Amino acid sequence: MSNDFSYQDYVTNKTFLDEYNAYQAKYAKQIRESDKVLIGLVSDILVKVDPGQGKMRLLDVGCSTGNLLLHLKRLVPQLELTGGDLADSSLDECRANPELQGVAFEVMDVLNLDRIAYYDIVTINAVLYMMEDEQFEQALGSVARALKPGGSIIVFDFFHPYPQDLHLLEISKSHPAGLRLRFRPMAMAEEVLTAAGFEKPVFRPFTLPIDLPPSGSDGDLITYTVPAADGRKLPFRGTLFQPWCHLSAIKTH
Ligand SMILES: C[S@@+](CC[C@H](N)C(=O)[O-])C[C@H]1O[C@@H](n2cnc3c(N)ncnc32)[C@H](O)[C@@H]1O
Repeated sequence: MSNDFSYQDYVTNKTFLDEYNAYQAKYAKQIRESDKVLIGLVSDILVKVDPGQGKMRLLDVGCSTGNLLLHLKRLVPQLELTGGDLADSSLDECRANPELQGVAFEVMDVLNLDRIAYYDIVTINAVLYMMEDEQFEQALGSVARALKPGGSIIVFDFFHPYPQDLHLLEISKSHPAGLRLRFRPMAMAEEVLTAAGFEKPVFRPFTLPIDLPPSGSDGDLITYTVPAADGRKLPFRGTLFQPWCHLSAIKTH
């Protein structure tokens, strides 16, 4: 597998996607804590908008089986929702889900979105960490073009405050050929955002408000929490601390 195409392996690995979609089923019923924060950020944007302006358009790209959209549809009904993913098998599950009726689903690549100045909000939830620099830059450029001026990008990904650009190769039962993970410095992400045409980036490091039980020893890499001395509940994946972070920024006018 080429280093550059880790995410493409991810979206075409049917066995892994079936396992991952089963994991996602849990969070269709019970909203993920990080998604609660993300939905709060979307709501904060909406309260500042004149309701007479009509429905705002939100795209969730890399939507998988549509959990975030399902909860957004329920909690923030004043949005016109679209879900996009490269994995058509995941979108088929979305289209077959009656709880997602009214949401549009399209196969799309975040690196190359078709629409120009179309969406008010684009969310990218746990997708970019699989991408190397060129793809990360391309993705943010593509989202900038797809957003209306003044529109918002909201990302949930691995960003941390240290001058330390981490490239990890995680070889596991689910990804025997290795999944590349990037833990990017916030300063680096900010530079790419500015170059793509975004301003006012805000990074909000995420820790969990609840305890998640330790992951089993059978090789499943499901997030669990480790208590820190200051009371925070740190998200771990196997032996690895995950610097999950919500990032929002505004497309310049
Ligand atoms: C780790 S999952 C996250 C799914 C979901 N957003 C969530 O937070 O649970 C990553 C998703 O991104 C999709 N994906 C990966 N690369 C993509 C790309 N270039 N364009 C669109 N979707 C992509 C994958 O198919 C997968 O559904």
